[in-house]
Amino acid sequence: MPVERTLSIIKPDAVAKNVVGQIYTRFEQAGLKVIAARMMQLSAAQAEGFYAVHRERPFFRDLVNFMISGPVMIQVLEGPDAVAKNRALMGSTDPKKAEPGTIRADFADSIDANAVHGSDGADTAAEEIRFFFSGLDLCPRA
Ligand code: CMP
Repeated sequence: MPVERTLSIIKPDAVAKNVVGQIYTRFEQAGLKVIAARMMQLSAAQAEGFYAVHRERPFFRDLVNFMISGPVMIQVLEGPDAVAKNRALMGSTDPKKAEPGTIRADFADSIDANAVHGSDGADTAAEEIRFFFSGLDLCPRA
């Protein structure tokens, strides 16, 4: 399996619930390594830029407002098949449909407050990583 990188965001609801460590444990137990991390409070312009692909969707304004409602924890995860592995750990976007034992099933409340974001493919991952981190921020791990 190829070693990949993916972007993960622990959203304001999960940060407020103080479960950052529990979510990191799930990444680590699945063989994903955190190679860069940053906690920040997004501005509206930053959230709009990050989610620009969704700007015509009816949920865009609610999504942006939610993402700026509190601090988020942003990380780059590295490991074999990291994009798909992270998506499996997260579960379905709508927590009501998320498989038992997934991050969203265990920690999310609604489709907006759904605990985590993860890149949906290798190309998106590269773009999303560049949005938040420079090459100098990444610390590849043995
Ligand atoms: P995320 O993986 O961060 O990508 C876009 C976000 O939009 C998604 O998680 C949800 O939190 C939010 N969202 C709200 N409504 C919808 C919807 N109907 N379909 C997809 N995403 C939605």
